[in-house]
Amino acid sequence: MLSCKIQCFTILNIVIIVMARNNSKNYTFPKDFIFGAATSAYQIEGAWNVDGKGQSIWDTFTHTHPDRISDGSNGDDAAKSYFKYKEDVRALKEMGMQFYRFSISWSRIMPQGLPNNINQKGIDYYNRLIDEVINNGLKPVVTMFHWDLPQYLQDLGGFASDVIIIYFEAYAEVLFENFGDRVHMWTTINEPYNHAFGYEVMTLAPGLNTTGVGIYLAAHNMIKAHARVYHLYDKHYRAKQKGKISLNLSVQWSVPEHKNSTDDKEATKAELEFTLGWYAHPIYSKEGDYPQIMKDRIRNLSLAEGFPTSRLPSFTSEEIVYVKGTADYFALNQYGSYLIAKGDTGANPSYFRDKGTLIEPDNWPKSETSTWESVTPKGIRNIIKWIKEQYGEELEILITENGFADNGELNDIIRINYLATYMIEVLKAIHFDKCKVIGYTVWSLIDNLEWSNGYSSKFGLYHVDFNDPDRKRTPKQSAHFMRNVTETRQIPYNYGIIDRELDEEEGL
Ligand code: BGC
Repeated sequence: MLSCKIQCFTILNIVIIVMARNNSKNYTFPKDFIFGAATSAYQIEGAWNVDGKGQSIWDTFTHTHPDRISDGSNGDDAAKSYFKYKEDVRALKEMGMQFYRFSISWSRIMPQGLPNNINQKGIDYYNRLIDEVINNGLKPVVTMFHWDLPQYLQDLGGFASDVIIIYFEAYAEVLFENFGDRVHMWTTINEPYNHAFGYEVMTLAPGLNTTGVGIYLAAHNMIKAHARVYHLYDKHYRAKQKGKISLNLSVQWSVPEHKNSTDDKEATKAELEFTLGWYAHPIYSKEGDYPQIMKDRIRNLSLAEGFPTSRLPSFTSEEIVYVKGTADYFALNQYGSYLIAKGDTGANPSYFRDKGTLIEPDNWPKSETSTWESVTPKGIRNIIKWIKEQYGEELEILITENGFADNGELNDIIRINYLATYMIEVLKAIHFDKCKVIGYTVWSLIDNLEWSNGYSSKFGLYHVDFNDPDRKRTPKQSAHFMRNVTETRQIPYNYGIIDRELDEEEGL
């Protein structure tokens, strides 16, 4: 598909590649640095009730609340990857990628999420997909849970109930048993931060209005469920399967609104702890447990509100030890940055009020189709450095998501600029800051259902025609660009809007 389009490169692209190759100052990605692209089951597969798949909370949510999806759409058919997965794998290969990050739909494997009913057709599908990935010379990087919880388990309380922990472990066991011989890179949960938001806001499934309470219960049980699966792997599978496990953590870089304001600087620290630290501190820090600032603020506010104890659940001392160290690498999802000030906002109680921070208007370039995405490449380097400073120099970081939303143009020059400038910052983190970044993943391989934005916001390197019953895929310019990157292992340095001043200042 891609190869026949190569002649159609724009002159601009050719010039860029030549310049990049001639530019001796351009840094190269290390030899073993890997490139890939990502998707998730609900966003691309479709086939929502085919071959014995059970209902997930995103099926329920989009069917019962089309009003909460900006274009009223759902993932019933999505990009039909359940039927077209071979084309998707071919697209990765044509871009010269080394891995495919995708997720497994829990309710396709276990229709109710329970271990007494396993759907062989679901197992067969993922076996076919994994084999296709491997036979094309790529590695599978597999996420066990990307938000599409089986509805049955939600009826039992979802992640707000600790019943989920044993069922998540049982699900993981089925995955290790069936796929662990070929999958050596796992993540347990994609962005627990955003999934927990389904208990705080109405726009993400399960869409519960349990502000300031449900969100912390869900987060707590996700951390414990993750740790349980890590230990399961350690005990029964690691020696034989020799894989690595982590969880995907997302964060916006945070910058104080007023550089000289102590309040804003403190709020910025709080913002990072309440977003990334919330999940990373229990797992990656030396002492474990939640960040002190979260424990203090939420406890004080809870008591003042009339709760007998903190709304933030606590880990026992055994649990702190059990959770600590349960990741073999850091899986980072990073997109944009926020400008932060100190201040109170949100319902009482709520996560937003607990943080005591305000996200202020900024004038950074924005994606036209996403409310939260700013184009702030320096943020990715800063957060990589922050992770190294907080959690140790030796920690390997795999960027498991980075990408740009637009309307789906084939000539997606803004996406190319976004990817180029962000990857340059990743190179700086590797070469200047000596951070151990081991790979980079573009979100997303193909256009897909962008959660509550439906099909109105597109992240794909490949365009998908959602009006075509066959969901034709077409490579965008960014797919060609990524092929250049994987071939040259450099970034076309002089492309478009790259901030040259900064580059010179820092010696690139
Ligand atoms: C999620 C993806 C999502 C992407 C863009 C990440 O938060 O993991 O599922 O599509 O961001 O919003």
